[in-house]
Order: sequence, then structure tokens, then C-alpha cells
Amino acid sequence: MSNMLVAYFSAEGNTAKVAKTLAEAIGADIFEIVPEKPYTRSEINWLNPVSRCNREMLGKKDVPVAEKVENMADYELLLVGFPIWYGHAPNVVGTFLKDYDLSGKKIAAFATSGGSGIGKTAQKIEPFAPGAQILDAKVVSPDESAETMKQWAEQFAD
Ligand SMILES: Cc1cc2nc3c(=O)[nH]c(=O)nc-3n(C[C@H](O)[C@H](O)[C@H](O)COP(=O)(O)O)c2cc1C
Repeated sequence: MSNMLVAYFSAEGNTAKVAKTLAEAIGADIFEIVPEKPYTRSEINWLNPVSRCNREMLGKKDVPVAEKVENMADYELLLVGFPIWYGHAPNVVGTFLKDYDLSGKKIAAFATSGGSGIGKTAQKIEPFAPGAQILDAKVVSPDESAETMKQWAEQFAD
């Protein structure tokens, strides 16, 4: 398996854990999607109606990413990880994806959640990656085993 990138956003560490397990298990490169302005604890408090996360969600706001994947052209398969926010991917994931020409690439998404399923996450990502093939999206546990994550990724690799 070659030419794979694990790119993940994680505000609280759960997705980071499984992203690292996955990248190590399959020998992929790994990239952390870090917002230009990282989230503080109070900014991700969805119980506060005017917190940053709620304002971004309601305003469908772009969330600029601090760094770019310089060699994106090298990758054929993108394994994108994130927490489920409000039933789907956080805005920063869309902003990340649309920064690149991903046409012709394969994308599979994995997410951690507080209990929600994957819902319409895949369909919601699609407009941010025109011309890419979204092969799968699923919710995983932060403690998912290396073997399970490897088997999941292997089905998408040539
Ligand atoms: C702003 C915000 C919105 C969330 N929305 C949901 C949700 O709709 N459904 C759900 O099951 N969990 C939701 N969660 C919980 C996260 O998906 C869960 O804690 C996830 O594992 C966090 O991943 P992270 O540690 O990588 O950030 C939300 C968390 C935050 C901060």
C-alpha cells in the first residue's frame, strides 16, 4: 500500500489517537489539520449558544487551516479523520479539503463521536472535493485496534 495520507482534525484528542493508530498500522504519512486559530475549551462548548463552534456551524463559516500538505499531488488515497460535530464533519474539514485539487483521488473518512452515527457525513463532504471518489465514511472508537483500522484501509488501497 503506497501513496496514502492520513489527515485528521481533533479538538479533544480522540480522533488524534485513532488517526495515529491507523497511520502507523498501514505505514502512511500523517498530517494534522490544525486551524489557524486553534479551538480553546470554551470555544467548543456547544452548550453556549454564542460560542465559536455554534457561530461557525450556523454561519457555515470557513475555518482556515494553519499549514498545507505541500505534496498532496503524491497521494492517491486520503484517509480523513475528524470528530462528529452537529451530526457531521466540522467546518475545518471542508475548508481543508477545498484548498486542494482532489479530483481523481480516493477519500475514505473515519470519525469519532459521542454516540452519533455517521449520518450524511459522506454526502456533506462531497461538494468540498469535486471529482474525488468518497469511498466510505464510518464512526470508529478512539481505541480501535491497529488490526481493525488496517483492514478497513486495505479495502481502498490498490
Ligand atoms: C462542537 C461539538 C459538537 C459535537 N457534536 C456531536 C454530535 O453531533 N454527535 C456526537 O455524537 N458527538 C458530538 N460531539 C462529541 C465529539 O464528536 C466526540 O467527543 C469526539 O470523539 C471528539 O473528538 P476529538 O477528541 O478528536 O475532538 C461534539 C463535540 C463538539 C466539541
